[in-house]
Amino acid sequence: MPSTQRTDHEGWPGIRGYLDTAAYGLPPTAATHAMRGWVDQWAEGSAPFADWLSATDQARGLFASLIGGDGGEVATGTSVSQLTGLIAGSLPDGSRVLAPEGEFASLLFPFLAQADRRITVREVPRDRLLDAIGSDTDVVACSAVSSSDGQVAPLRELADVARAAGARTVVDAAQACGWLDADWWRFDAVITSAFKWLSCPRGVAFMALSQELLNDVRPTAAGWFASDERQQYSGGPLRLAGDARRLDISPVWSSWTAARESLNVLLTVGVPAIEHHDLRLANRLRAGLGHPTQRSPIVIVDGEEVAAALHRAAIVCSPRPAGARLSFHLYNNEDDVDRALDALADLELREQS
Ligand SMILES: Cc1ncc(COP(=O)(O)O)c(C=O)c1O
Repeated sequence: MPSTQRTDHEGWPGIRGYLDTAAYGLPPTAATHAMRGWVDQWAEGSAPFADWLSATDQARGLFASLIGGDGGEVATGTSVSQLTGLIAGSLPDGSRVLAPEGEFASLLFPFLAQADRRITVREVPRDRLLDAIGSDTDVVACSAVSSSDGQVAPLRELADVARAAGARTVVDAAQACGWLDADWWRFDAVITSAFKWLSCPRGVAFMALSQELLNDVRPTAAGWFASDERQQYSGGPLRLAGDARRLDISPVWSSWTAARESLNVLLTVGVPAIEHHDLRLANRLRAGLGHPTQRSPIVIVDGEEVAAALHRAAIVCSPRPAGARLSFHLYNNEDDVDRALDALADLELREQS
């Protein structure tokens, strides 16, 4: 078993037993303070309006740095489905979309909702996705990390095969950005909500996209916040920002104020170090359960009694019909793993398939 390291990351207040980042991530202390401060300012009517607005741009820049890009290539929004909807709604009539079976609804539904424009979505078993990409594919839509079992998609191959076939790639990185060290700029669009591994509040989402795709996306949700210089509050003509900001929607002020702090903490630690930490803990749990090592901080434990046993041990995780999903992030340490192993020690567990 790897050596023990039971200290807490200084950015978080030291909460034990929270193994559910795949549902939502916990805020660093600085983000909690920012959110509380925002509520006070709101209640007092003392809004530093300029700061509320610049929080979105600063968070955008921090996110861009986290994935190795530039803020001008990143649009902001509120959810994966809302940002995916911009792309789906801009596809030419009759476009052919390919997705893995069981893909998360927020990525899938925006394309399915275009059926009246003869846009088709072909769903194939996840392990056959690469083989299914061909000249009849216009778009491949796929999660980088599956929320159901934590498996990481073959990202490099996906980008290469799709490019060779002339298909665009739209990747949902909601379970990946914040821990997975990947070359995100291989894809045409990478979309993520920030409330999981990015430790931000709900209401913060990003879409990093190529200039080619940006040229084709219709800014159907644009308002004053997407306008050129953010100066156009009323009347036409339509004058939008020249870069990805043209796809922004008006920001959820409170959330972005806290998001800026969360992203700052994550960037200071760095994604490679976060991946190392998260995988070390997840693989410590796997080792204790006799499961093979994997590159994912999400661990599925199968067994009828699993969820109840973890609940009794005050471990927060996501129950499954016959098991549980546990996930590890920067604010967890070995004590969390060992508490889970103790809780599961006497149970009949099924072999991991
Ligand atoms: C893979 C994946 N995509 C997206 C989301 C969230 O989507 P949205 O921001 O549309 O609620 C989740 C979890 O809630 C998820 O697991």
